[in-house]
Amino acid sequence: MRITFIGGGNMATALISGLARAGDISKTVRVADPAEAVRDRLGASFGIECHADAATAVEDADMVVLAVKPQVMPAVLASLAGRVPANALVVSVAAGIRIAAITGALGVAAVIRAMPNTPALLGAGVTGTFASDACTDAQREAAANLLAAAGATVEVKEEALIDVVTAVSGSGPAYFFLLTEALREAGESLGLDPEAANTLATHTAHGAGVMTLEGGADVAELRRRVTSPGGTTQAALETLGAGGFSALVADAVRAATRRGRELSGEGDAS
Ligand SMILES: NC(=O)c1ccc[n+]([C@@H]2O[C@H](COP(=O)([O-])OP(=O)(O)OC[C@H]3O[C@@H](n4cnc5c(N)ncnc54)[C@H](OP(=O)(O)O)[C@@H]3O)[C@@H](O)[C@H]2O)c1
Repeated sequence: MRITFIGGGNMATALISGLARAGDISKTVRVADPAEAVRDRLGASFGIECHADAATAVEDADMVVLAVKPQVMPAVLASLAGRVPANALVVSVAAGIRIAAITGALGVAAVIRAMPNTPALLGAGVTGTFASDACTDAQREAAANLLAAAGATVEVKEEALIDVVTAVSGSGPAYFFLLTEALREAGESLGLDPEAANTLATHTAHGAGVMTLEGGADVAELRRRVTSPGGTTQAALETLGAGGFSALVADAVRAATRRGRELSGEGDAS
């Protein structure tokens, strides 16, 4: 399968690295990026063909991966109009760009929207996907293979749910960073030196993250197991509950979903 990446930045590099780990990609993967330094880096790292012009890079492609910032997407789509093979699969990782905008501009029917998150750059991400009806099983599988380099994948059945994916997992790392910051500050305010507070908070975040996937139980059960009746954890969790922690998280995710819909031109939709 011939795959062309439009944009050779962070996300494209993470996905190309994954493909390269699985086999020789020098004859099957191409990249288009206007920056010479980016082309030089990708050419040297992976031995792949690099183009300055996106339109020539998509010739004969079976899959085109749109990995540019959403704000440059209209110009990229315009430059690719009529150039992407009609039976190619287009995979877009750009937030807020609708399938209709892609099919309309490119004249292709098989489009998969993918919303990865930042840990994808370390192979520890999760990606939500939505596939247009025209995608074949083989195309869905090819996209899943590509995105596996970024971590786990979850397919949603309605395009509108991609905004919820964005709110839960796309923005999600920031929520965990905020909690980690707050924990660090709390430790400092109670007398820990800054370095100790930072080590305790960040390693706790890491350890809890590992346990949520590898702890052998659902997160609610993991929480119950570390909450002895009348103990310290229970005292903390009761305080969080009294402050409306879960409802606040739900409000935050709703606000992010709404903002995602506004940014993609669909206005308010809660
Ligand atoms: N990084 C993440 O964690 C993450 C998570 C979820 C979704 N995404 C999505 O993934 C997409 C890419 O993100 P990224 O972090 O990889 O961005 P990035 O590092 O900025 O990469 C985008 C690349 O595309 C290049 N580019 C600009 N215009 C182009 C054109 N007309 N043709 C070809 N290439 C062009 C950019 O070059 P210049 O720098 O010279 O403009 C840059 O090298 C974005 O839509 C983002 O929303 C990223």
